[in-house]
Amino acid sequence: ALVSATEMLNKAHAGHYAVGAFNINNLEWTKMILLAAEEAKSPVMLGVSEGAAKYMCGFKTVVAMVKEIHDSLGITVPVALHLDHGSYEGAKACIEAGFTSVMFDGSHYPFEENVAKSKEMIELAHAKGVSIECEVGGIGGEEDGTVSNGELADPQECKTICELGVDFLAAGIGNIHGKYPANWAGLNFDRLAEIQNVTNGKPLVLHGGSGIPADQIAKAIDLGVSKINVNTELQLEFAAATRKYIEAGKDLEGKGYDPRKLLKPGADAIKDKVIAMMKQFGSYNQA
Ligand code: G3H
Ligand code: ZN
Repeated sequence: ALVSATEMLNKAHAGHYAVGAFNINNLEWTKMILLAAEEAKSPVMLGVSEGAAKYMCGFKTVVAMVKEIHDSLGITVPVALHLDHGSYEGAKACIEAGFTSVMFDGSHYPFEENVAKSKEMIELAHAKGVSIECEVGGIGGEEDGTVSNGELADPQECKTICELGVDFLAAGIGNIHGKYPANWAGLNFDRLAEIQNVTNGKPLVLHGGSGIPADQIAKAIDLGVSKINVNTELQLEFAAATRKYIEAGKDLEGKGYDPRKLLKPGADAIKDKVIAMMKQFGSYNQA
């Protein structure tokens, strides 16, 4: 069965590694990420944005699809189904629909309102055994229509949200969604260290995990990051492998246009990339 993410992330925090939260878009993404986790013997989180959920015909369809794929593949490693950047309404709906983990992203509200809504959502989630992530500060860039300029999280605000009983915390530390610009200043490790200091060992979440240099990922994990969100990276891998297949004319040979063949190079590329990232994050062989 799908599990809440609390235990896997507390274990990751204690063991100084991070669990990948990989965003899914459809059956292929779901299947390949689950197969990768099983092969890597790694815990995993499947992230679902509200936009991707809409694309997949709603939260209930996502829950049913993920559960059935998970069971039919005989997956034995811990898997959490997690709402990514949830709105107030979306998080409530996912807790009801059977997600095992949700993010309530109230970072765009005035802080007092973020606190009040986060508190309510933490109670609702915990009443159902669902783990919950909240956010302080802003993640730069744009994801599924959510635009933010990026704002370093205030450590005292992080402390306040942690005291509400949140299970893991997303804090802006200079990270950006999507591709990193050439003039990117890098992660702010001083701020990350300050945040971990005042949050009493709470697992921290690094959004915008695509394209961060390996040494910065390693240092972030050292400083308390236990969950790394990856979305763009898998989309780029899928697109590149698919392009290669089509540009080589493979779709025109034999029955190369059959969607099961056409989508295979991209799907295989997703699986390889996820396994490589599990090795990089240190969750490999931890399940
Ligand atoms: O919430 C999802 C992530 O933060 C993904 O960011 O697309 O830059 O990997 P990314
Ligand atoms: Zn994010």
